[in-house]
Amino acid sequence: MAKVLHSIRRARPDDAGAIAHVHADSWREAYRGIIPGRQLESMIARRGAPWWRRAVVSGARLIVCEFEGEVVGYASVGSSRARFLPYAGEIFELYLAPTFQGLGFGARLFGAARGELRRTGRSSFVVWALAENARALRFYERLGGVEVWRAPERFGNEVLARVAFGFDAR
Ligand SMILES: CC(C)(COP(=O)(O)OP(=O)(O)OC[C@H]1O[C@@H](n2cnc3c(N)ncnc32)[C@H](O)[C@@H]1OP(=O)(O)O)[C@@H](O)C(=O)NCCC(=O)NCCS
Repeated sequence: MAKVLHSIRRARPDDAGAIAHVHADSWREAYRGIIPGRQLESMIARRGAPWWRRAVVSGARLIVCEFEGEVVGYASVGSSRARFLPYAGEIFELYLAPTFQGLGFGARLFGAARGELRRTGRSSFVVWALAENARALRFYERLGGVEVWRAPERFGNEVLARVAFGFDAR
């Protein structure tokens, strides 16, 4: 029987440790030099395996991308936090382990996140990215997102711009 190399599925409580690893590695790689180091490390420290386990158990809509049985990426979705924008849903986070970036997994994870939002009646949605995260901006533009809002966010002494990309129902 052919071996399944790659799959995307809902997260289970026993994925918590692996998601915490992907979170720490991808956040360090993406935000080092953008978010001040102390803030970044304390944001990562808060999100250890117990935090992810609680998130899954309490019903967070969290999906994982697996390659050869290893969790290499995750995404979380739900209702948009920016109620003033005309988008029902939001992709809260979408991250891949650094060595699995640029291989098409991000686009597939994005498609699965979009499907999960659609199934829960949220066909239009937003994704926020830091304006300095050039790779994420290009990624969301490439997938058809349109910049619909910008807002400041404070990280310690630093104020950074966040960009919201809107995706319409299709
Ligand atoms: C952003 C991220 C999710 C993209 O996932 P990925 O697997 O690397 O991207 P993919 O290989 O699926 O590429 C999807 C499309 O985006 C484009 N793209 C991806 N990375 C790109 C880059 N650095 N520059 C230009 N285009 C890029 C690809 O060309 C591709 O388009 P194509 O299929 O038309 O060629 C991933 O790189 C990541 O986790 N980055 C760090 C964390 C992060 O910034 N997350 C988003 C936070 S808001």
